[in-house]
Amino acid sequence: MLAHQCSARAYIAILIALILSIFLLTANRLNNVSPISLPHFSTGGSSLAESTGGSQQPDSSTDQLNTQPDNKYDQAATSQAVAEFCNNDWKLLRRKELGLTNKVAYTRRCIKPTHNNPDREAVGKISDSLVTGTVTLNLKANCEQFAPPPCEPLELDVPPAYAAQEEQYNHLLFGIASSYERIQTSLPVFAQWLAGTGAQLLAVVADADEGFIKPNLRALEAQYRNAGVNASIIAPKMKESLPRLNTNPDEKLHQPAAVEQLHFLLIRDMLDAATPQTKWLGVLDDDTFFPAMDPLSVALSQYDHTKPMWLGALADNWISMKIWGFMAYGGAGTFLSVPLAKQLEPHLEDCVRQTDVPSGDGMLRDCMYTRTTTKLTVMEGLYQHDIRGDASGFFESGRRTLSIHHWKSWYHVPIDKMAAITSVCGDCFLQRWRFGSDTLFANGYSITQYREGLDNINLDLMEATFEEADSRFDFVYGPFRPRLDRYDKKSYRLVEVDGTFEKGGQFKQLYVYRATKEEGSDAEPVDEVVELIWDV
Ligand SMILES: *[C@@H]1O[C@H](CO)[C@@H](O)[C@H](O)[C@H]1NC(C)=O
Repeated sequence: MLAHQCSARAYIAILIALILSIFLLTANRLNNVSPISLPHFSTGGSSLAESTGGSQQPDSSTDQLNTQPDNKYDQAATSQAVAEFCNNDWKLLRRKELGLTNKVAYTRRCIKPTHNNPDREAVGKISDSLVTGTVTLNLKANCEQFAPPPCEPLELDVPPAYAAQEEQYNHLLFGIASSYERIQTSLPVFAQWLAGTGAQLLAVVADADEGFIKPNLRALEAQYRNAGVNASIIAPKMKESLPRLNTNPDEKLHQPAAVEQLHFLLIRDMLDAATPQTKWLGVLDDDTFFPAMDPLSVALSQYDHTKPMWLGALADNWISMKIWGFMAYGGAGTFLSVPLAKQLEPHLEDCVRQTDVPSGDGMLRDCMYTRTTTKLTVMEGLYQHDIRGDASGFFESGRRTLSIHHWKSWYHVPIDKMAAITSVCGDCFLQRWRFGSDTLFANGYSITQYREGLDNINLDLMEATFEEADSRFDFVYGPFRPRLDRYDKKSYRLVEVDGTFEKGGQFKQLYVYRATKEEGSDAEPVDEVVELIWDV
């Protein structure tokens, strides 16, 4: 009995000792990474957060580390700033997809949007520089050891956000015909402009009946709906292509039906999916993008949807115009009023049989001119974007655009991320500001420093950056200003965005200038990053 009591006491003592030692060990470890222990870093650890040459505030970041031990308030503020930086910006910078170099020259600015009804067409003028307070970060290092970089405040005068009203665009119905794979990978891009708007999306999956394991359309539809898009995803009703004019009668008909025929037959599918609220049927390519629904809806409201109406854009390359003629080019987005679609619907199959045009928009043109008296109304702001190569001239031109096309094939831009700023300030997408003498900011696309400055650059004109940007394109984009050499222009391009748009939230844009490894140099390349933090 006694022996038993003794061993119980010893047991409790050992237990207490164990608990105490675990507690001490943990406390010690916590203290080692604690931002409060930063001062010892500031004396010797400059490699983690060193000021870059030319920075206007060489010591502002390290200053914050030299807090007096008795200044509790400053310490708390510093450790909170460290935690905020490490939990947000740092994680963003370290995202694998960004592929940044180990060391980056990092600048951040804290943007306070103001709404004083700015002239959206004009280039705003700000005398200070945009890229200031730059520090070098080693992304392989431990963030907590590192002082939070400065975030100089900056006021930008922007339009207000678009008024958000649930379901306010349920008069718009959009249709695409494409492959399962493309519809699946396009989800985030469609969600960017369709989610929460109440507009409908109808997607015809051309290869829905293909393969041993048929694609699961219900699951894909659920993914779209979970993302807030009111989508219906269906298999084609027509299972093989119709013979066209001049098709060899012995030729085997395409099974499943060709995408371009399904694209044209969308008119019937869309009429089936329409509700009493539907005013416009938007026939799209699977890479047609609208930066925002609101301006599109406003533009459409100027036309009478109760009459037969055909709205769209011409090509922007005159060579295409000579080949295809006067019609709505599909990639820009084509809009039919419901009465017009009803006129065309009984003729769809006949129209395919009686044309030798191999494209959906060409079939629509032929059918329109042979079966109805409706002519094309060119709608300002829609763009076919037959632009190849470097599209920066367009995106840095300050133009408003209702639609964007070819952004993932003829040229490549992260279009959904670019347009995400519309949630913060509506019409501010691609709005421009000039900073100091040499920097142009095109919101959502780039920050560009001009080596020779901006004084001799006519910013009203579009830079001829893309292929064949000459007289072939000038009826839409001209006159052009000459293209600058890459040594004359240093561009940080938008690569990533982050954050919520709810009241009080922050929205972040990351603009990156990728370092190029100099030939014959051992120097480690250092990417340059500008992070704009919009305080919403
Ligand atoms: C989605 O579209 C259908 C028509 O296909 C409509 O009846 C329904 O109200 C819409 N739902 C939402 C949540 O907008």
